[in-house]
Amino acid sequence: MVEAPPQEYRTAWEDLEAASEPHCVDVSGRVALVTGANDPGAIGYHMALYLARCGAKVYVGARSRPTALQAIARMREMQADTDLLLEPFVADLRDLQQVKTASDRLKAVEARLDIVINNAAISEDPAIKTEYGLATTMVVNYLAPFLLVNNLQTLLVNTARAGGDVRVVNMTSTVHTVIDGLNLDCTYSLNVDPQWKSPRTPTMQQYALSKLALVMHAKTLQRHCDAQGIPILAMSVFPGFAKTTRTLKLMGESPDMVFTASDCAFTGLFAATEPSVRTSGKRPSATNMAGRSSESGETDGTLCATDTAEGGTSMAEPTSTIEHGTGAQEGGPDQGGAGGGTDSDRCPGWTTLITAGATDSGTPGSSKTSGTSKPSGSYGGAYIVPFGVIGRSTATAEDETLGERLWELSSRIVEDVLWML
Ligand SMILES: NC(=O)c1ccc[n+]([C@@H]2O[C@H](COP(=O)([O-])OP(=O)(O)OC[C@H]3O[C@@H](n4cnc5c(N)ncnc54)[C@H](OP(=O)(O)O)[C@@H]3O)[C@@H](O)[C@H]2O)c1
Repeated sequence: MVEAPPQEYRTAWEDLEAASEPHCVDVSGRVALVTGANDPGAIGYHMALYLARCGAKVYVGARSRPTALQAIARMREMQADTDLLLEPFVADLRDLQQVKTASDRLKAVEARLDIVINNAAISEDPAIKTEYGLATTMVVNYLAPFLLVNNLQTLLVNTARAGGDVRVVNMTSTVHTVIDGLNLDCTYSLNVDPQWKSPRTPTMQQYALSKLALVMHAKTLQRHCDAQGIPILAMSVFPGFAKTTRTLKLMGESPDMVFTASDCAFTGLFAATEPSVRTSGKRPSATNMAGRSSESGETDGTLCATDTAEGGTSMAEPTSTIEHGTGAQEGGPDQGGAGGGTDSDRCPGWTTLITAGATDSGTPGSSKTSGTSKPSGSYGGAYIVPFGVIGRSTATAEDETLGERLWELSSRIVEDVLWML
């Protein structure tokens, strides 16, 4: 823990310190994949470790086999009293062929896949491109996750159809709000001009664009799933500003870095596992938090349609693939009041943090177009900010037509690249 968080985070921070176990949802029997999970100094490692500690079989994403195995060994060392189910998922996400091959292998050996957390990220100058001319930041941060989820869709859909609580979580950033509008005219539209004259560096613009694309991906994926009655939840998450390998390299020590990598694992884990995210589509109340425990039987991924505020989810016409579709409308931001409530002694971490988060009015680094809405609404397709609060995104991020066009362009780019290789 760092020493002096800003005032608006004080309560949540103190609760975090007091929470001996910030995550306690039983995910036994589930299979999860976390990309970029090899580095103990970064968020993905801690999300993978928590998921494994809570019973999931976890694929630890890394760009090389040695780094994946090293991370697995370290996790086992840290949790010597538990038999962790960990497997390497090796793919350098700059290379879409590796993404395809690794996900093909996963499909060949697993009968189910419940959780995908698209976490790996880089922020490089847009002048740095892959051999097929795409900015590496865009490929690693967005096109690789796009391909990954598409290629794994049959497994995800089958798991969901069989009653699994399937969730796709995209780790994004509040910085996505700096991009206003999108030009999607050609394959290279997603490359930021390195000569761009703007108060923000081209590197930051490129990173922001990749993070906007992830927010839009989660929203579009959710619409496609809803339209076809596939009970998958897709969400994007801003984890908070953490001191991690990447932020330290980019910015050095900063007083704004109020959280550790392990603290910032919380919101992604909340999106990936918290039962009430699915069952109510709203923030947990004291009642449903207290009722959730491993012996209550509520953690087995019991499925229900996503919140009807999203336009309803029909289970009547099952299909086995996720295709483009007009989809259901997303619900309005406010479907009711905050859950509120008291702490549960069974789940101190979740409850205290979520209750604390309900009073948060902003997120570090948020621009005037972002911020937190009232802590209620539907989680399906939502942009979630620290402590499980549903955040407000931008008009560009919410634009359904643009979302569909981005999806189409991304499919085309990925197909072209795989064909070229
Ligand atoms: N930290 C923050 O304050 C913050 C704020 C907003 C959003 N986020 C988001 O939260 C997520 C985690 O952030 P972080 O700060 O923990 O990131 P990080 O320190 O940079 O860690 C990123 C992880 O991604 C992996 N990775 C990078 N390039 C890869 C590639 N080509 N192939 C496979 N894996 C690759 C890295 O592996 P190597 O070790 O091999 O490089 C590392 O494990 C990111 O999506 C980030 O955008 C973070």
